[in-house]
Amino acid sequence: MSKSFYITTAIDYINGEPHLGHAYEKVIADIIARARRSMGVEVFFLTGVDEHGQKVQQAAIAAGKTAQAYCDELAAVYKSLASRLRLTIDDFVRTTEPRHKQAVQAILTKLHAEGFFYKSNYEGFYSARAETFLTEKDRLPDGTFPPHYGEVVRLVEENYYFRLKDQQQWLIDYIEKNPGFIQPDYRRNEVLGFLRNNTLEDLCSTRPASRLNWGIPVPFDRDFVTWVWFDALVNYISVPAAHGDPGVTSALGLAPSPDSAPSLWPADLHVIGKDILKFHAVYWPIMLKAMGLPLPKQILVHGWWQKEGEKLSKSTGNVVDPIAVIDEWGLDAFRFYVVRELAIGPDGNWTDAGFRSRYDSELANGLGNLVNRSLSMLKRYRNGIIPKRSDELSAEAARIVAETRALLEQNQLQAALLSIWTLVTHANQYVDRTAPFRLAKDPAQSQRLDEVLYNLAEVGRILAVLLWPFIPGTAERIYKQLGLAESLENFSQTSWGGLTPGHAIGEPAALFPRKDAAPS
Ligand code: ME8
Ligand code: MG
Repeated sequence: MSKSFYITTAIDYINGEPHLGHAYEKVIADIIARARRSMGVEVFFLTGVDEHGQKVQQAAIAAGKTAQAYCDELAAVYKSLASRLRLTIDDFVRTTEPRHKQAVQAILTKLHAEGFFYKSNYEGFYSARAETFLTEKDRLPDGTFPPHYGEVVRLVEENYYFRLKDQQQWLIDYIEKNPGFIQPDYRRNEVLGFLRNNTLEDLCSTRPASRLNWGIPVPFDRDFVTWVWFDALVNYISVPAAHGDPGVTSALGLAPSPDSAPSLWPADLHVIGKDILKFHAVYWPIMLKAMGLPLPKQILVHGWWQKEGEKLSKSTGNVVDPIAVIDEWGLDAFRFYVVRELAIGPDGNWTDAGFRSRYDSELANGLGNLVNRSLSMLKRYRNGIIPKRSDELSAEAARIVAETRALLEQNQLQAALLSIWTLVTHANQYVDRTAPFRLAKDPAQSQRLDEVLYNLAEVGRILAVLLWPFIPGTAERIYKQLGLAESLENFSQTSWGGLTPGHAIGEPAALFPRKDAAPS
């Protein structure tokens, strides 16, 4: 089988309920997946949850549950968020699944046999929150460790180390030669700066089972479990292996693949947040090279959300619950806001006032009003029957379609949305300029009214196709109101003239009902 476009997200720690950051990342990956499919590409979209490690174990204990029972409950919550977000995923991985554990153990066995691990004693600092060992270099000028590490304790213990030393130069060369490997550029520069200015320490890849048992047992030494990051990163290939991807099964020495197995690895796109860049851009490539597997084509790094200018934090109650927002405003309002507000890269700031204002001005008054008045006038003046074809806005639409396509191919989602919105704005101006409500009063203007109504309905149709990756429910509603039953999940339907004269549209209805302002 030909290789699919394989896109992944970070797998979320399930030590709490999903939040805005989790939902945001999954939505941008979904828009990219939908856009590629719409452009005719075969896509495999993977997301899932990261269940092992101390953080999750501690959360289970705090909840008075066994780790497995706790994970089963939370995994169901994350899975249901994926469906509330309408993620078009092809699989959902849980790192406690046998298929995943098998792949992790096969990799450990193989790398151990090839001499990539050695056992050694460690004495130093450890952050449970970051699941990581710290050194003197991690201290702040005042001697303390940065607050995001939480409580830092002193530890003395034996572990297995993965050899990272001597791996630095080829990785630097690779990143220099492949500017697209890490995007945006300033994240790539950050990794290059780190690699050029530090010497990589070998990576502690196990934890003593006596201290932490919630992990995948190390196959060659049952006194240890696998370090959660070594386990988690492998999800990107354990799922292809489970689907029989021949490149992965043969590299890992797993059962040979059926002829029908998809070819997934290397991933085309890992979508992740800025805090886990080092794991993906340094450790993961070195692990893959050791396994004899090619590197992912691109790591796309998004920024972090704050709310009302403050860090998201459960303890201070400064959170955005994606489910609550969707319940109140609808999924598409959520999907629209996060992509419209923030490009993939910089940090963003969610404000409730900004959300409401974009809902009112861009969704309700912009897109919603355009489609609603266009179809209502078609209904009123032409009985809902599409008039003779007219190409007045066709060149403008074609220009926006080409621009949007190019931006989507570069995963420039915010810019693509802005491009689509210029068509919304121009079409609204076209209504104001041509004033069909006035034309309708003058029988001599009947042909002109036909032209205007055709152009508006056709622009509405093209907008639905363009917007489907972003706001699929709204796109579907527009198609339904146009009385169209065909699938709109195909970019090629953006060519002008899809509406046939004589076709009867459906019932117009508000796409984004206006909400009364909350009393302040
Ligand atoms: O890091 N804004 O899981 P996680 C935007 N299990 N994105 C945010 C965010 C915020 N405020 N907070 C978190 C892990 N994220 C590991 C990943 S991958 C093999 C293992 C993003 O639940 C974060 O950057 O802490 C990451 O990409 C994702 O949410 C999961 O974070
Ligand atoms: Mg995190």
